[in-house]
Amino acid sequence: MEIVVSGIRPTGNLHLGNYFGAVKSFIQMQDEYKCFFFIADWHSLTTHPHPENIRRSVKTILTEYLACGIDPEKATIYVQSDVREVVELYLYLNMNAYLGELERVTSFKEKVRKQPDNVNAGLLTYPTLMAADILIHKAVKVPVGKDQEQNMEMARKFARRFNTIYNVDYFVEPASFHLSERAVKVPGLDGSGKMGKSEGNAIYLMDDEKTIRKKVMKAVTDSGPTEPDSAKPEPIQNLFTLMEIVSEPSTYDYFNAQYNACSIRYGDMKKQLAEDINAFCAPIRERIMDISANDSYLEKVAAIGAEKARESAARTLKEVRNIIGFK
Ligand code: TRP
Repeated sequence: MEIVVSGIRPTGNLHLGNYFGAVKSFIQMQDEYKCFFFIADWHSLTTHPHPENIRRSVKTILTEYLACGIDPEKATIYVQSDVREVVELYLYLNMNAYLGELERVTSFKEKVRKQPDNVNAGLLTYPTLMAADILIHKAVKVPVGKDQEQNMEMARKFARRFNTIYNVDYFVEPASFHLSERAVKVPGLDGSGKMGKSEGNAIYLMDDEKTIRKKVMKAVTDSGPTEPDSAKPEPIQNLFTLMEIVSEPSTYDYFNAQYNACSIRYGDMKKQLAEDINAFCAPIRERIMDISANDSYLEKVAAIGAEKARESAARTLKEVRNIIGFK
């Protein structure tokens, strides 16, 4: 089975956009590939040097991925900092990573602008750590967002360079598996664009019924169409798109027909949409509550994941040490 690796940044709770993006792809992939999914807590140290909050976010992310259906029996789910073998590969890759190429990475330049007082070596070598995450399991496919393409190019370059320097055909260049191209794009509730944490327009899987209703009722609408069968302006289209994602086709058809007949009442549509979003989120929310109250289960999942990941990592590392010439 082909090997897949992906890292998850521990940044708060999952929203519907995440669910229909990365999370759903991961759930599909765990049946088709040998998957390693890990929570990238070391990467977080490049911007957040104190790990108290990171630990809480790691628990949140692990809980929510499990609640969504990531199955620790199928995929290996682990916390990056539990697998120290990654650091040794990171070191070897860093020995052949050049200052110039690392400095040219766009996300590094952005971070320099954002945190000029903390331009640390971890930020600079973020792409080498990411390459180590991937190459440590000899992954061939990496599900990532489009924004990770430059890091992926670096990972391929480091893999190639290792092969060239040590005159081996050892690492396979990992291919990107672009999530955004495959996933359903979930729009936000503020009239334009997609759902996102930083956009402040998100419905979280953890939101309770009341919060969901409040957010949906506040969504941007207009005074309604005046001509039959008119095109939908973006804010209206977004509501329909959300409905297409979470509601029954007959519900969508009903409101679509009302829109086309100029008799739509957005209040009714939103009420229905809020109900359907809640029906979708409620079982996930319940599982999140159950799992997050069960620390021993979470610890067990993380321990088993770490063990499986370390086994795979140790195998690669042994071969890498041999190739380099350490016995
Ligand atoms: N850099 C990725 C992001 O910001 C997270 C990540 C770290 C990752 N290591 C990885 C993704 C390895 C894929 C493979 O989203």
